[in-house]
Amino acid sequence: MILSPSLLSADFSRLAEELQALEAAGVTWLHLDVMDGAYVPNITFGPPLIKALRPGSGLFFDVHLMVEDPSRYIRDFKNAGADMLVIHAEADRHPQRTLSAIREMGCKAGVALNPGTDLGAIRWLVNDMDMLLIMSVNPGFSGQAFIPATFDKIRAARRLLDACGRADVLIQVDGGVCPENTAQLVEAGADVLVSGSAFFGHKPYDARLAAFMKPLAG
Ligand code: DX5
Ligand code: ZN
Repeated sequence: MILSPSLLSADFSRLAEELQALEAAGVTWLHLDVMDGAYVPNITFGPPLIKALRPGSGLFFDVHLMVEDPSRYIRDFKNAGADMLVIHAEADRHPQRTLSAIREMGCKAGVALNPGTDLGAIRWLVNDMDMLLIMSVNPGFSGQAFIPATFDKIRAARRLLDACGRADVLIQVDGGVCPENTAQLVEAGADVLVSGSAFFGHKPYDARLAAFMKPLAG
């Protein structure tokens, strides 16, 4: 399992230090939540912030685009230093075209689905994606409660990807993830877990990372 801490819950007054502390603790991915105030009822940050963080970090930048019509911005995010761009299926009329464009730029491509969106939305996109992000809260804010129906959705997603010959597509889960549910999420088929509020604010980060990993050992 890969843990991808969400920058949204980091100390925004000391971001460079936060990223260094994550790397020193053994974290390899960073989840960057981009919100436009239109697709979701919140505004966060855009390419300039990612560009500023990029030179000082070796973390894999997993960029979650919660924006309307994300194709307008993929070039800017790639140039800023994104390693993976995840678009919402609900926010793009032509997701296949956008996913292809992301890959042509040399970026990994992912599709996110809101809790109420059926897996049918990605059935004909499976060959265009590297990761499926299953939202376990409605996007917009950190600190929300995990939606239990997510467990069945992860299992169904794993079956669908396996049946389509895409067992290699990563399944990421985002929202309300904490050490108490990591074992069940991984058992259901999750590969990458995002955590904001349950990760940051618990220093030192090496011990917190271990707390997320420990339930998987038993
Ligand atoms: C929600 C974001 C999440 C969020 C996770 O819209 O996409 O990445 O920051 O925060 P927690 O782990 O606190 O639910
Ligand atoms: Zn996210």
